[in-house]
Amino acid sequence: MLETLHQPAQRDMRQVRVNLGPRSYTIHVGEGLAERCGDILGPLANGRPYAIVADEAVRAIAESAAAHLKANGLLLGPVIYVAGGEASKSFATLEQVCAALLAFGVERSHGVIAIGGGVIGDLAGFAAAILKRGVRLVQVPTTLLAQVDSSVGGKTGINTAQGKNLIGAFHQPAAVLIDPQTLQTLPQREFRAGYAEIVKYALLGDAAFFEWLNAHHDSMHRQDPSVLRDAIVTSCRMKAGIVERDELESGERALLNLGHTFGHAIEAWAGYSGAVLHGEAVALGMVLAAEFSERKGLCARGVARRLADHLRQVGLPADFTALRSLAGGRMPSPDVLIEFMAHDKKVTSGQFNLVLLRGIGAAFVARDVPVKDVRDFLCDRLA
Ligand SMILES: NC(=O)c1ccc[n+]([C@@H]2O[C@H](COP(=O)([O-])OP(=O)(O)OC[C@H]3O[C@@H](n4cnc5c(N)ncnc54)[C@H](O)[C@@H]3O)[C@@H](O)[C@H]2O)c1
Ligand SMILES: [Zn+2]
Repeated sequence: MLETLHQPAQRDMRQVRVNLGPRSYTIHVGEGLAERCGDILGPLANGRPYAIVADEAVRAIAESAAAHLKANGLLLGPVIYVAGGEASKSFATLEQVCAALLAFGVERSHGVIAIGGGVIGDLAGFAAAILKRGVRLVQVPTTLLAQVDSSVGGKTGINTAQGKNLIGAFHQPAAVLIDPQTLQTLPQREFRAGYAEIVKYALLGDAAFFEWLNAHHDSMHRQDPSVLRDAIVTSCRMKAGIVERDELESGERALLNLGHTFGHAIEAWAGYSGAVLHGEAVALGMVLAAEFSERKGLCARGVARRLADHLRQVGLPADFTALRSLAGGRMPSPDVLIEFMAHDKKVTSGQFNLVLLRGIGAAFVARDVPVKDVRDFLCDRLA
């Protein structure tokens, strides 16, 4: 009976290969993958066991995954649960996770499976990167953001009092298992925030994908399995391609920061309180990048408007008025945003590095954007 149930899922399995020489891996996308992770991870492990670090919010999925691994003789210790949310990306939680893994007797040939959103992936990924100088990592992302973005590409890390993601390592996973079914329990608002990153891929390099999203966003948000799977696969392909060409972010990978310099400043201003989610800040940040591109004459008029219309349709903030409602009536000042932008790591020698647009599907990195121009622009937009 079980096998019959799982057959359609297996037929609909999709794969995206990330070619990074000895660090190459496959992203598997398919319904039911998380609970049957041993099927893929068994052959990969040569019989060596995995420990699981999981988000408390996906306890049922983690328990099923653990049971499946155990049945295949591949489980090391009980599941280590961590709360989702930014506060868990800390030295204190990292220490707890590492201590628990060491108590299980983790060895270099073992693996760590991260089951959860971007927070768990970044945290458990970093633990895997530094434990015994690096153990095998498997990402099983359970938020839309993690499925299309953070689980692919090998960036891991934690936050400090000085800022987000300031301590970390590149540590590519050995496999990524994306099970879109796990999103069924994800709050709508978190789903929308992840969707903003999907729009980012369309905007930065694939105009046809942007049209496709315009046609399919409704069924996407209703979690139509084939639409959701297509959007995830297209996004992962795009990220994989960029990571393959620029693994350590010395060039092209910076394009993935489209909307993020503005977005990070908005998040920092909002205080990472949960009032404004990362994807929401990025949505507004992308509109600001498009508007600024138009203002500088780099991009045809109307691009920012089309983008904003699409984001509004799905319920994402696309202007400062929408931001104000999220932030309980508060509004940032241009100078505060500029100050946070200047603190962002994508800034060199007093000038902003900004990802700007020549059109939908055509982003580029501008390395010499005068701070004054951005400030004038923000003054106008916030007037
Ligand atoms: N490594 C990278 O390349 C990269 C890229 C983008 C973002 N990130 C990082 O990712 C983090 C954000 O990730 P996120 O948005 O996934 O946040 P998150 O991990 O905090 O998850 C969001 C919320 O959803 C809950 N959750 C997770 N899966 C669920 C499910 N299936 N059902 C119900 N609830 C569920 C979590 O407990 C949490 O409350 C940030 O720390 C960011 O810095 C990393
Ligand atoms: Zn992002």
